[in-house]
Amino acid sequence: MTGSFPFPHDFLWGVATAAHQVEGNNVNSDTWFLEQLPGTIFAEPSGDAVDHYHRYREDIALIAELGFTTYRFSVEWARIEPVEGQFSIAELNHYRRMLEACHEHGLTPVVTYHHFTSPRWLLEVGGWEDPETPARFARYCDRVTQHLGDLIGVACTLNEPNLPWLLREFGIGGEPAESRSEVPLWAAAAERLGVEARRIAPFQFTASEAGFDVMLAAHRAGRAAIKARRPELMVGWTLANTDIQSAEGGQERADRVRRTVNERFLEASRGDDFVGIQTYGRTVFGADGLASAPEGVPTNQMGEEIYPQALEATIREAARVAGIPVIVTENGLATDDDSQRVAYLQVAVAGVASCLADGIDVRGYIAWTAFDNFEWVFGYAPKFGLIAVDRTTQERTPKESARFLGSLARTKSAESKNKVTESV
Ligand code: BGC
Repeated sequence: MTGSFPFPHDFLWGVATAAHQVEGNNVNSDTWFLEQLPGTIFAEPSGDAVDHYHRYREDIALIAELGFTTYRFSVEWARIEPVEGQFSIAELNHYRRMLEACHEHGLTPVVTYHHFTSPRWLLEVGGWEDPETPARFARYCDRVTQHLGDLIGVACTLNEPNLPWLLREFGIGGEPAESRSEVPLWAAAAERLGVEARRIAPFQFTASEAGFDVMLAAHRAGRAAIKARRPELMVGWTLANTDIQSAEGGQERADRVRRTVNERFLEASRGDDFVGIQTYGRTVFGADGLASAPEGVPTNQMGEEIYPQALEATIREAARVAGIPVIVTENGLATDDDSQRVAYLQVAVAGVASCLADGIDVRGYIAWTAFDNFEWVFGYAPKFGLIAVDRTTQERTPKESARFLGSLARTKSAESKNKVTESV
């Protein structure tokens, strides 16, 4: 499938999670708060999630046992700084134990500092449009790196600051400040917090020029804070890059969306150590706007076409536009049929191999996601996991896809290690 081309010996083979989606009871976060409000757009509350907060030891052991060499997870700002300026050493120690568990099991930890959720207090002070937010985020990055930096393998500042721009194309969030009072969820949040609705700017749903400036400044200030403590650590952000295509009559819109969602964020990544690419499929624009999946093609649980070829295209786009190393920090499929996921992963990894063969500097392939988990506004229905979880007993059951990708990881890293040894 991937030919004999060896992946580099330090290539990262992993699976990813994000704190809010797996830990459970992230009660000081803005997302927990929004899940509970009247008019919420979340299908269900996150609740206990998959209780990774307490079960991380067994979970990390399982990921390693399956053959992976990397685990990407996020540290939760809302736990670490539950009140502005008050940092919890106990929570920082929790993440230190997680990092130690990764090292014990030979996994390189790829740590995301911010994966969509922020402390609830940030929402009260203007969230991701407030000009003070970059400094707040940098202070948090400094504190995290001071406590955990020596154990982090790769650092991601912000996860998918471009997602709100993509979601807006799908009609989810992204309302301009002046019309937020008409959106039931933002109106309810504003009332509960005692602030004006125009100031409600949570990370995932803020697609405004002010938001763009704040997120970019936060990324840069966060990166500087991390680098100040660990200059040699690889630091970048991770982006939601779909393969944007056009059908008859849709080229103008496709070009515009490619510019706002993909290219301007990739351009802003220049100067970083890497860019994380997170791709799930393609987005096609036709004469009537977003084109739905062609008749008869297999679709994922969100009704979108299954299109694993997208990854190769977005890696090539990232390498071309950003001109820096790429790590695939997420790629996966929501399906109940795990054989579809195996087939999807095969095509996606072959795409990575083809990029490597062309000399593109790809440093890793990290699948989304380790466990079936809380898929944000869609709740627990979509199954992206390589490992199934019974949420009543919290029992974990690896699927065939976990064994497939884990053993590919094991074989490929052994192959490339042998290559290195042979040539020494
Ligand atoms: C996010 C994940 C999410 C996944 C699947 C990405 O947008 O980083 O948190 O679960 O895609 O939708």
